[in-house]
Amino acid sequence: MEQVAPGVWRLRLGTPEAFTPIALREAEPLVDAMRALPTAAAPFAAQAVRFSVSARGCVVELPIGDGEEIYGFGLQLKSHKQTGLKKTIRVNADPIADTGDSHAPVPFYVSTRGYGVFVDTARYASFYCGSHVRREGASTPGAPARSAEELPAPAGRAAKAMVVDVPAAEGVDVYVLAGPSMRQAIQRYNLFSGGGCLPPMWGLGVWYRQNHAYTADDALRLAATFREREMPMDVYGLEPGWQTHAYGSSYDWATERYPDPDEFLARMGDMGFKINLWTQAVVDPSSPLYDVLRHYASDYEVWGGIVTDMNVPEARAAYADHHERAFIQRGVSGFKVDECDNSDFNPSPWSFPEHSRFPSGMDGEQMHSSIGLLYQKALLSAFRRNNTRTYCSVRSSHGLAAPYPFVLYSDLYDHRDFVRGVVNAGFSGLLWSPEVRPCASVEDLIRRLQVVVLSAQALINAWNLAMPPWWQPDSERNRAGELLDNVAKVEAICRGLLQFRMALLPYLYSAFATYRLEGTPPIRAVVVDYPQDPNAYELDSQYLIGDALLAAPIFAGEKSRVVYLPPGNWYSFWTHERHEGGQSYEVESPAEQIPLFVRENTILPLAEPVGHIDRDTCFEITAYTFGPRCEPCMLFEDDGVSFDYERGAYNWVELTWSPDDGPAVNRRGDYPDVRYRIMDWSHIPE
Ligand code: GAL
Repeated sequence: MEQVAPGVWRLRLGTPEAFTPIALREAEPLVDAMRALPTAAAPFAAQAVRFSVSARGCVVELPIGDGEEIYGFGLQLKSHKQTGLKKTIRVNADPIADTGDSHAPVPFYVSTRGYGVFVDTARYASFYCGSHVRREGASTPGAPARSAEELPAPAGRAAKAMVVDVPAAEGVDVYVLAGPSMRQAIQRYNLFSGGGCLPPMWGLGVWYRQNHAYTADDALRLAATFREREMPMDVYGLEPGWQTHAYGSSYDWATERYPDPDEFLARMGDMGFKINLWTQAVVDPSSPLYDVLRHYASDYEVWGGIVTDMNVPEARAAYADHHERAFIQRGVSGFKVDECDNSDFNPSPWSFPEHSRFPSGMDGEQMHSSIGLLYQKALLSAFRRNNTRTYCSVRSSHGLAAPYPFVLYSDLYDHRDFVRGVVNAGFSGLLWSPEVRPCASVEDLIRRLQVVVLSAQALINAWNLAMPPWWQPDSERNRAGELLDNVAKVEAICRGLLQFRMALLPYLYSAFATYRLEGTPPIRAVVVDYPQDPNAYELDSQYLIGDALLAAPIFAGEKSRVVYLPPGNWYSFWTHERHEGGQSYEVESPAEQIPLFVRENTILPLAEPVGHIDRDTCFEITAYTFGPRCEPCMLFEDDGVSFDYERGAYNWVELTWSPDDGPAVNRRGDYPDVRYRIMDWSHIPE
């Protein structure tokens, strides 16, 4: 095993393929931050790993110890703990069963024993997570026995193992990442990927996506209504109809709907909205990009358009240049990169086949695993050239994706699966949006919105609605223009939830800065921080946000739920009641409140909610202390929009408090402006 970064060892097995996540990586490992983690030995020796190659591909067998639990494999919506299961990590737009299909499958798993393993492949590999036991000695082929004496000794049982079946490849690189803790193993994976992403501050505000057929006038009207009605909102998304041709994309404004795009962008910008444009991966022949990109197309068409080989640097550059000139430099803030996944369960399969051939030498299977990453890479390069941060949506991703400021979403809609996505995404360097669309009832709308405001991207996706879901959650009635009877009340509840998001923004932004610099996922499963606690192993509907908060969503139809609070003491966010951890509680929750708990000895900064975030927004903060020996609270302060923080233009604002010394605020760093003003302190009694 060769050590390739602090706490990361590479095991080269056979002859690896050319097109792998490592070969496509976005950024170099953040070696200094990895070195700052506690040192740890490799979790197992190279001798403990078995490897074989056959005509079907190669097989790697890695040890799993007793009592060890396995998590990961990307955006798994159907299961949480993977021990004992088989996952085939296939890119898919409709991950309807617990087979491993995912918008963003990732060949990375992490163990409660405090290490991670990254198998560097773009193949639809199968991971047998201790689900099958090999018969020791049974796998050795030899000459057939001619008599009973020649029969081999009966096979013994091999120890439990992780068996990885990688089709087509004659070899593979396996990266073993030390912790020493489970959380540090995930940090190490994210740092090895290049560090987590830091969204622009506005990206953590509220997002709304309008009806796909709206015109510029419709958009301006609705946007003005949001401002009049004081619904906090930062990003306004245009769906397919902004383009002359959507499936495949023309990447060109439909002037019958948007006669003057620059004027439209300016007027939306004046109201404080950032514009995000829906696109997808297929290039239509009518696109201004078609003549260039057709030279890099695969051998299959999709929707009458081409699928570009974005692994060819010239193709990626042409795509990025067009987006830079036509959109980014004219003020567009980001994109929603749709349908870059795959279609297997669709009645009319729309994606390119696995046996497709691409000019760079990739086949369709490798491209399905890579195409989401390659589009993210192209777009991010265009934003970087303009020293402008972006926050985007994407429907497919894969390994080493932490540095990409792109959030995954799905057309699936089961609320429990969506919450499981929030819980699981952080195992593998991914971000996930449990977006609200039409809802079964007002209660369903509120319960869904509660999760949305406590997620990586607070998105309301009204692409097939005529008006916001808080005016009418039922899709048919909404499209028929029927307002709810109690529309003012429902809107007020939803406004309260969106304002709550804005109150949390400085806290969330700082959690993302820690993701960027130290690799800690801002939103993560409870087991990540409590791998020694078996009570945490099955918790697929509650999650940690930063270091201070634990959320436990309630689903429509429920009045209460069981919440497990890990060891230590916790306060209810709403009632301030103190609960001893290491136990489960049946928690009741009024319709307007999501069960939310604050860890003891936390200073929680809550901001006066603003309607949207500008470059010079300064948050007025009340610091709430929970408990007698509060840890310092660190707020990350920078311009919120550029990459200047990478050159040191940021501060850490440290809030401290103790009963003896009282409150203190210390600002350290080289950023000259002030984004946070601490207005008040409030001490929650024990
Ligand atoms: C889907 C996407 C939806 C919406 C729709 C518009 O593929 O998942 O969110 O954008 O296209 O046609």
